[in-house]
This record gives sequence, C-alpha cells and structure tokens, in this order.
Amino acid sequence: MSDNKYKAVVSQGSDRAFFSCYDLHSYYGESYIVQGVSFDIREGEILALLGRNGAGKTSTLRSIARATSPQVNHGEMWLDHQPLHNMEDYQVAQLGVALVPEDRCIIGGLTVQENLQLAQIEGPIGWSIERIYEHFPRLGERKDQDGITLSGGEQQMLAVARALARDVKLLLLDEPFEGLAPVIVHEIEDILISIKKLGITTIIVEQNAVAALRLADRALILDTGKIVFDGSAQEVLDDEVLRHQYLAI
Ligand SMILES: Nc1ncnc2c1ncn2[C@@H]1O[C@H](COP(=O)(O)OP(=O)(O)OP(=O)(O)O)[C@@H](O)[C@H]1O
Ligand SMILES: [Mg+2]
Repeated sequence: MSDNKYKAVVSQGSDRAFFSCYDLHSYYGESYIVQGVSFDIREGEILALLGRNGAGKTSTLRSIARATSPQVNHGEMWLDHQPLHNMEDYQVAQLGVALVPEDRCIIGGLTVQENLQLAQIEGPIGWSIERIYEHFPRLGERKDQDGITLSGGEQQMLAVARALARDVKLLLLDEPFEGLAPVIVHEIEDILISIKKLGITTIIVEQNAVAALRLADRALILDTGKIVFDGSAQEVLDDEVLRHQYLAI
C-alpha cells in the first residue's frame, strides 16, 4: 500500500471510503504504541484487525474511539466525510462510533432492558428495544434478568445490542468471541452477518483469527503497532507464511 494512496484518500475522507484513518500515532505516556497506521473501510464492510498479543490492536480501536488512553499524538480520521481527529470521545460516540470493549462493560444491578434503555439515553437513538429483541431473541427472553448474571455469550450479545440501541455507524468489536464456546461463536457470527446486511460497518479485533476471517471482507495484520498486511480475508487464509508468522494458525 503506498502512503500516497492514503494521503489522497484521507484529504477530505474519500468518496470510496466510509471510514479512513491516516498516519495514526498513539502513546501511553512515553510508550509509543500505534506507529503510523493507515487504512480505510467501505460502508458495510467487515474488517478484521489481527496480530499477535501486544501488537496494538486494542490500542488502535481505542484511538479510533478517541478513548482517553492511549493518547493520539498524530493522525487523521474521517467517518462519512466528517473529521474525527479533533474530537473528544463523547463527540465521536455521538457521530456513531461504538466501541464494544473486551470486558463488555455490562452494568450490574441493571436488567438487560435497563442496560439497553441507558444506552438510548446516552446518545442518538438507533434500534428500538422491540427491534433488538427480534434480532436477539435470547435477550428478549432474559429482559428482566440482571445483565451481569448473563452467560458470557449473552453478555456479548447485550454489548452489541447496546451499540445498536444507539445510532451506530461504525462498530468496533474487541475480542467478541473471547471465552465463548464454538456454538456461541457461530451464533454471534450470524448476528454480525445480519447486522452487516443492514449496512453497518464493523472492525473486529480477534485472537480467533479463523472465526474473524470467516466473517471479514478484508483483513489488516498489525505487528508492533504497524500494519504489515492489508488485503482480502481470503489472501490471509491462502498465505501459510503470513498465518504462521503473525497469527499462529
Ligand atoms: N494502559 C497502558 N499503559 C501502558 N502500556 C499499555 C497500556 N495498554 C497497553 N499497553 C501496551 O501497548 C502495547 C499494545 O497493547 P494492546 O492492548 O493494544 O495490544 P493487543 O494487540 O490488543 O494485544 P492482545 O491481543 O493481547 O489484546 C502492549 O505492549 C501493551 O503492553
Ligand atoms: Mg487487545
């Protein structure tokens, strides 16, 4: 990928890209983590962001969401032609960027339905609660249960549903399959496919590269904070050296 391509792409956000990120650099204090990351995504695409432990995947997602750390020191980001790079985290969330963190952050002491209602209070309303239960029947069956008592897979469903309860345009999923049995992974994959059909753009970070590549249109591989591969999911699956070197699959 040439740097010039991204300079052109990102100058105003390109016509082609729904989300673009150009030359992103982020730090935790003195630690330089995200080291010049550039990529773009078309609307409705699923992009898998892969790489070894410590490669900088979570840090890249958090930088896009403008979380308080790591601190973005340099870089441009555009969502649907709107610049995100000078915004605070709550402004980025208002524009429709939703980060579903690894720990899922379900609020205990609130029921499933209250967790969803709270998400709607916090930002522009997306899906109605009824529509969420149509797509996530397990959540409808458990709507009065304390969110924290759900199983791991159900908590992941609730975390994704909470993002949809707001007007999400770019969904950032950090390890959505972590700790889940294969049958539940498949169930969540089906949900993500149905969300994709509705045009929502998703970046998925996963240690379970095989599951992520099943879903993804495209894949990026990060290594020590730099992109070392940007191509189709199929290219990764076909490249044994790449898989061994960076993904251990
Ligand atoms: N809060 C922090 N303060 C300082 N360094 C951090 C912090 N969080 C992460 N790091 C460091 O940043 C680097 C990238 O971490 P990050 O969590 O982005 O990796 P990752 O690719 O998501 O890894 P994993 O697959 O293990 O989740 C690591 O070296 C990590 O130790
Ligand atoms: Mg991580």
